[in-house]
Amino acid sequence: MKNKRTKISIIGAGKVGATLAMRVAEDNLGDVFLLDIDKDLAYGKALDLKDNLAVLNCPGKVNCSSNYTRLRDSDIVVISAGFFRQPGMSRQDLLIKNKEIIAKIISEIKKYTPQAIIILVTNPLDVLTYLTYKLSKFPRQRIMGMSGVLDAGRFSALIAEALNISSQNIQAMVLGMHGDLMLPLARYSTICGIPFTQFLTREQIEELVKKTRNRGAEIVSYLKSSAYYAPSAAIFLMLKAIINDEKRILPASVYLQGEYGLKDVCLGVPVRMGREGIEEIIELKLNKQEKKLLQESAKKVKEGINKLGI
Ligand code: LAC
Repeated sequence: MKNKRTKISIIGAGKVGATLAMRVAEDNLGDVFLLDIDKDLAYGKALDLKDNLAVLNCPGKVNCSSNYTRLRDSDIVVISAGFFRQPGMSRQDLLIKNKEIIAKIISEIKKYTPQAIIILVTNPLDVLTYLTYKLSKFPRQRIMGMSGVLDAGRFSALIAEALNISSQNIQAMVLGMHGDLMLPLARYSTICGIPFTQFLTREQIEELVKKTRNRGAEIVSYLKSSAYYAPSAAIFLMLKAIINDEKRILPASVYLQGEYGLKDVCLGVPVRMGREGIEEIIELKLNKQEKKLLQESAKKVKEGINKLGI
């Protein structure tokens, strides 16, 4: 007999949550439970997703509700609820609006599914990952923010385009906060194992780093809402790493306790991801300039943390 199926709860049935639900259900990675305070939205999306599975002849399962009690026995909870950016807004501008929403959700998760791993997606990502860690009081292994996988994907896409090669050849690393001070690390990013620095000039790399930092805002300027295909793909990759115990090294925002010389802050760093969640934090050797940038990132996140009033 196989073990019980994994229950993946997704809170927030907006574009990121619903696209993620579709990816998970089509892949049959586990049973999807979609929760939204807007009952009609949750029901509408769930019905469409069920029909989608039937058309594709997929065995996946999707349920939905606006009732938090149904979170019971979730193995993983993805939080994609909250307000998203409008053109001209920074992710930090969402702090006051989204902190109450996240605080309420965390109290419900604690009540109904205290064993779950939480993946946070709501912005400002690192500050709200910190809030999630502090309010849940879960071990830090079970709290992570999705940012680096998305940002590294964007860095890869831009490099692939610049060099006219497949992004499949690229392994990109992005550290730091999910925002203007993110740190795409060219030194630790490779094309078939060969550092980027052998293919691209310093100026070219700087230009691509700038574009990577701005990619989210660029998409917002066209869509008048946040991106969702790449964000949901990034969460999906993290879910697979956890559920299949893949032990993949992926960047995620985690609570730091002295790693990288940083304490009491959440920031994107490479981690080993598996069944236990964050199984190890990988410390890369950074040069002076990279360290300085990471510290600036941490400082900016701490400014947000100070506004949380916790
Ligand atoms: C973005 C959102 C998910 O970067 O922060 O598109």
